[in-house]
Amino acid sequence: MSTVLSSIALRPAGTADTSAIAALHAASWKLAYRGLVSDGFLDEGLEEGRLAHWLVRMATLPAEDLVMLAEDPQASMLAGFVYVMVAGQPEGHAYVDNLHAAPMLKGRGIGRRLMAAAALHAMAAGCHTLSLTVLEGNLAARAFYDRLGGMTQPIGEFSFGGAMVPECRVSWPDLKALLAACGKQGMDAAQAAGASTDFGSR
Ligand SMILES: CC(C)(COP(=O)(O)OP(=O)(O)OC[C@H]1O[C@@H](n2cnc3c(N)ncnc32)[C@H](O)[C@@H]1OP(=O)(O)O)[C@@H](O)C(=O)NCCC(=O)NCCS
Repeated sequence: MSTVLSSIALRPAGTADTSAIAALHAASWKLAYRGLVSDGFLDEGLEEGRLAHWLVRMATLPAEDLVMLAEDPQASMLAGFVYVMVAGQPEGHAYVDNLHAAPMLKGRGIGRRLMAAAALHAMAAGCHTLSLTVLEGNLAARAFYDRLGGMTQPIGEFSFGGAMVPECRVSWPDLKALLAACGKQGMDAAQAAGASTDFGSR
């Protein structure tokens, strides 16, 4: 069992959070993707590229989608974020496009909380299934998804960071099982952030 941070709270992101999200995204890729993509991609203009990406994304975020932040009130830096896409996905399906815990705070339950928030948001939007893609060589993230019961399968090579990189799809055919795997800690944090648990008859 990882050491859990009890002070972490979740809240939906707004446009004022764009710079912080972009900075964490770049910092996380620099560490997690080192050796998996070229150093040039990670070391030259990554911060500017992520900021440009998130400026567009946050300004055009569909109402069905969610960017959820994890914050530690005692820290100045963002503790984590997840982006859940519902708009444009197949009926009943949600896609997690980004999930990052701050490098210094990995292994403290932030990923678990954010995945619970993603699952709750997807369920409230009428989804039953969820998936994401992960670099095949990102063994740490794959271990995390395994721990949450995700089913992993290789899906071939994709152009990323100027090279072809093998990727896997991780799927959860049952969102309730994903929520259960996130545990009470994850569920409590997601609910405290306002994620709905009223799924009606869906
Ligand atoms: C992947 C990531 C989001 C996980 O978040 P996290 O806050 O570190 O994970 P948690 O603390 O919530 O861990 C939940 C469970 O997964 C397990 N886990 C997490 N990282 C693990 C690892 N590297 N190896 C084995 N198990 C791991 C934990 O042990 C924990 O289980 P436990 O409570 O039974 O001990 C985070 O490590 C991260 O941001 N990585 C870099 C960015 C990245 O690769 N994102 C995914 C892109 S697809």
